[in-house]
Amino acid sequence: MADSILKVKDLKKYFPVRGGFFSKPVAWVKAVDGVTFEMEQGEVLGLVGESGCGKTTLVNVLLNLEEPTSGEVYFDGLDLFDMDKKSLRKIRKNLQIVFQDPFWSLNPRLLVRDIVGEPIKVHANCSREQLVKKVGDLLEMVGLPRSGVFKYPHEFSGGERQRIAIARALALSPKLVVLDEPTSSIDVLSQAQILELLKNLKQSLGLTYILISHDLSVVNYMADRIAVMYLGKMVEYGPADDVFDRTAHPYTKALFAAIPTLDTEGIDSIATIEGSVPSAINPPSGCRFHTRCPMAKEICRQREPVMVDLGGGHRAACHFIGKDAKGAC
Ligand SMILES: Nc1ncnc2c1ncn2[C@@H]1O[C@H](COP(=O)(O)OP(=O)(O)OP(=O)(O)O)[C@@H](O)[C@H]1O
Ligand code: SF4
Ligand SMILES: [Mg+2]
Repeated sequence: MADSILKVKDLKKYFPVRGGFFSKPVAWVKAVDGVTFEMEQGEVLGLVGESGCGKTTLVNVLLNLEEPTSGEVYFDGLDLFDMDKKSLRKIRKNLQIVFQDPFWSLNPRLLVRDIVGEPIKVHANCSREQLVKKVGDLLEMVGLPRSGVFKYPHEFSGGERQRIAIARALALSPKLVVLDEPTSSIDVLSQAQILELLKNLKQSLGLTYILISHDLSVVNYMADRIAVMYLGKMVEYGPADDVFDRTAHPYTKALFAAIPTLDTEGIDSIATIEGSVPSAINPPSGCRFHTRCPMAKEICRQREPVMVDLGGGHRAACHFIGKDAKGAC
């Protein structure tokens, strides 16, 4: 059994909506609203859900790029929200991110040496020669020639630029890497190669990934565990095979059924997700999915469902898990 590397407890991130004369908060965007999960070292967590459900906000809080509103996060057993700046800086080296679009995430005016080497320069005292060697090693690790060290980002293709972004994320030998839509802005062939590279790097370096993707076939290919978010809440979570085979939450079923490439035989007849995601400022009462859920009953409007344990680490939050919705309320 691997060790737990990340524990997240009841994490919330609310953004203020300011208005009035004094620009005081008049409402709150409940981007992440009470999320609890944990990860084991070496696993890949696929984080899925429609646009605006809070995936990026969740990882930004984990990476300390956003202040949490409340909750707890333990990384390697250490409380991330209760440590001094120096310790946090040390820990932060172990948590890195690869952004969606390598075109925007790489400074076009800098040489690859400085883009990939920047985190090394910040954290370690090394000579120019040592830096060039280290960056060359990192480029080789991601399948690029060492000669790329003295080139600019525009001299590379989209897939190659994403490799540079991965090399930069790996520069400080992190333990956990967040991949926020890592393949969505590159061509299909490069996508497959980048996924292969990420799998190999995970194996050889013992990395742990949080993978955010709208593409469920990517998640299906990469993830050991899946977390499904809807309007700031985690609605289903568990081992990937189990979540695909015994999909429990109506929202997850709808998400999966909307993807033709997945084997959705075991999934009932919800073909698409009706309607649009409601506002995160004033989310629906009770179960947040009730305004779009074909199974919704009165209780769904009134009471928020709790997570139900389905065994084997699989859980989902719906009033009717294991029950017949027809008979209720
Ligand atoms: N800095 C911010 N200030 C105010 N609201 C924000 C801020 N950042 C995100 N939000 C809001 O928080 C909610 C969650 O946004 P987030 O970007 O985390 O979603 P997401 O799941 O990553 O979406 P996508 O799939 O489009 O990337 C949205 O309603 C968004 O508008
Ligand atoms: S609790 Fe009700 S509205 Fe929510 S997913 Fe379950 S059936 Fe649908
Ligand atoms: Mg996002």
